[in-house]
Amino acid sequence: MPAFTHHIFICINQRDPASGRGSCDLTGEQRLRDAFKSEVKRRGLQLTVRANAAGCLDQCELGPTVVIYPQAIWYGGVRIEDVPRIVEETVIHGRVLADLLIPDERLNCKK
Ligand code: FES
Repeated sequence: MPAFTHHIFICINQRDPASGRGSCDLTGEQRLRDAFKSEVKRRGLQLTVRANAAGCLDQCELGPTVVIYPQAIWYGGVRIEDVPRIVEETVIHGRVLADLLIPDERLNCKK
C-alpha cells in the first residue's frame, strides 16, 4: 500500500455560539468533512489521500478550518463548494489557494 501523500484534517468542532469564538461546524452535521471524503473517493485518491475529522484546530475565528499535512497548508473560511478545487489544485497539483490560505502571521492569533 502506498504511503499517504496528504492528510486533510477538517475541523468539525461545534461550540456554543455564545462563546464568542467561531465554530467550524455550527450544525454538527460534518458536511464539510463528508464533502472531502466524497471528493477524495470520487477521484480515486483514497489510497494516498486521507480526509479526517479533527477537533478544534485553534483557528476558530478563521473557520471553518482545514489543514493539509505534511504540507502544513492552512485554509480558513472553507465552504463545501471549495472542496473540489482544494482537492484539484492543492492536493493534486500542489498549488496553494491564496483566497483560502491562512497566512503564517495570522495563525494562532486569537482575534
Ligand atoms: S472550532 Fe474549528 S478551529 Fe476551533
